[in-house]
Amino acid sequence: MRSDQSEDTVENVNTKAGVERRGFIALVVGWCALAVAFGSSAVASVRFLIPNVLYEPSRRFRLGRPEEFPEGSTFMEELRLFVLRKGNSFRALSAVCTHLGCTVNRAADGRTYFCPCHGSHFNETGGVSGGPAPKALSWHEMSVTKDGRLLVDLSRTVQPDKYLVV
Ligand code: FES
Repeated sequence: MRSDQSEDTVENVNTKAGVERRGFIALVVGWCALAVAFGSSAVASVRFLIPNVLYEPSRRFRLGRPEEFPEGSTFMEELRLFVLRKGNSFRALSAVCTHLGCTVNRAADGRTYFCPCHGSHFNETGGVSGGPAPKALSWHEMSVTKDGRLLVDLSRTVQPDKYLVV
């Protein structure tokens, strides 16, 4: 009788220890899951504060010294740009058609522009004078570098009446 009681007692103790162990493991797993959830949420929140930045190549180009440009219009094929010189005044007009992006040409009159793709016409200030182009050609900001070269910024547009005087 005494040994039965002692066996029961040992079983009870083992059962209690098993329940306590399971409870402890469940508690640890629960806290770990909570920590992972809060941790990932915190990482996502911090990541949200950092803006996504798209690094693109610069759209500023050195063109050359002002005296290298003849009076009138010079077409810069690689930039698809007309550099217009009148005395000491310079302007840069985009040759990218605003319809579907073809390169516009100077018309025979030497002042206006036309697009060979779908026939848009642009006047002296780049404004649309005919064809499907939805808006005017853009003028780009020009400046002079420290070493005296013309610089054009294709990411910045200016009004048609804005000149760079050197
Ligand atoms: Fe110039 Fe269509 S791309 S008119």
